Amino acid sequence: MRILVCGGAGFIGSSFVRHILDHSADEVVVFDKLTYAGNLDNLSAFAESPRYRFIRGDIADVEAVRVAMQGIDAVVNFAAESHVDRSILNPGSFITTDVYGAYVLLEAARSMSVTRFLQVSTDEVYGEVIGESSHEGSPLRPRSPYSASKAGGEHLVQAYHVTYGIPTLVTRGSNTFGPHQYPEKLIPVVITEALDDRPVPIYGDGLQIRDWLFVDDHCSGVDAVLRRGTPGETYNIGGGNLHTNLELVERILDLLGKSRALIQHVPDRPGHDRGYSIDSAKLLRLGWTRDRAFDEALETTVKWYVDNEDWWRRVKATQDYQTYFERNYSDRESLTVSR
Ligand code: NAD
Ligand code: DAU
Repeated sequence: MRILVCGGAGFIGSSFVRHILDHSADEVVVFDKLTYAGNLDNLSAFAESPRYRFIRGDIADVEAVRVAMQGIDAVVNFAAESHVDRSILNPGSFITTDVYGAYVLLEAARSMSVTRFLQVSTDEVYGEVIGESSHEGSPLRPRSPYSASKAGGEHLVQAYHVTYGIPTLVTRGSNTFGPHQYPEKLIPVVITEALDDRPVPIYGDGLQIRDWLFVDDHCSGVDAVLRRGTPGETYNIGGGNLHTNLELVERILDLLGKSRALIQHVPDRPGHDRGYSIDSAKLLRLGWTRDRAFDEALETTVKWYVDNEDWWRRVKATQDYQTYFERNYSDRESLTVSR
């Protein structure tokens, strides 16, 4: 099969490309706008493969999408604005890519004969969940511009299945970590700041809980749903590793041999969800298993950043990164709205 991987130059998308090329005879066409988060270095290992092709383009561009989807059997859409803090600073691009972009892809799929359309979504669409686990039928209560736009994209996908019979699938993954993650997300922020002996920012009390999933396991979950999922259905992909942010950051500092005194509590993220937890039983019934134990996967990730300074120093040296970092971390009090 020929798979169009939208957003394939990003963190999870590029790992999914590797997964497909390593585990199948399928062909991959990556379609990516190369926003600040898209990075061709993530795909350089496949550049010579006869089963891989790259097209630069925007999922919100009707004509570019129509051309890219010619001859495609399956679409897997990872393309998104993906960072909650950026959605708080600048929600507009999230609506354009995560909602309108999903619509453009669906319209193209409707006019062509794709056999599968898989929308990669997130456990954040369930909203804040404490002391229980969300299953696929739980209500969606997104609370950030990011999660609301991801929920909007998902609703369109489901509507296109019901209305037009498009063979759609949705996955809702939990907090993913591993090599090549852009250093705006918690784990790479902590590793790279600590390596430079700079303060490690923890929002609020740091007792928020996330369910951590290694990137390879996220990709094998998406692959299992793509091949064996039932059209019209949604599948959670959880790591089964619940930790508070503080516990996680302390572990990373220990792995790096850095002092916990680097931890700096900073004003909280507005609307910060205190917890997420999802039940992955439905995906486990499809035969998916997690391959990587959390401790070992975290060690692998820390080691990757230690060994690949060039990769993250190039990213952190960009004007976009520095502007974002300054805006997000220098005056956090101003982010909080008083009512
Ligand atoms: P990322 O930000 O690292 O990568 C996003 C990719 O999409 C980049 O290559 C970027 O250039 C591309 N892109 C953005 N806008 C585009 C557009 N308009 N047209 C074409 N390409 C565009 O994101 P990620 O962390 O790899 O996440 C991938 C997907 O998985 C997203 O849909 C995200 O919502 C979802 N997800 C992420 C996590 C996580 O913890 N990172 C967990 C669950 C679900
Ligand atoms: O749950 C899945 C989601 O996980 C994905 O859909 C998103 O694309 C992905 O970005 C991630 O969202 P989070 O907001 O949970 O991830 P982030 O790495 O930004 O933050 C993880 C936790 O750490 C969260 O509670 C906020 C906190 N945090 C984050 C940063 C960047 C800090 O305390 N300090 C920080 O500097």
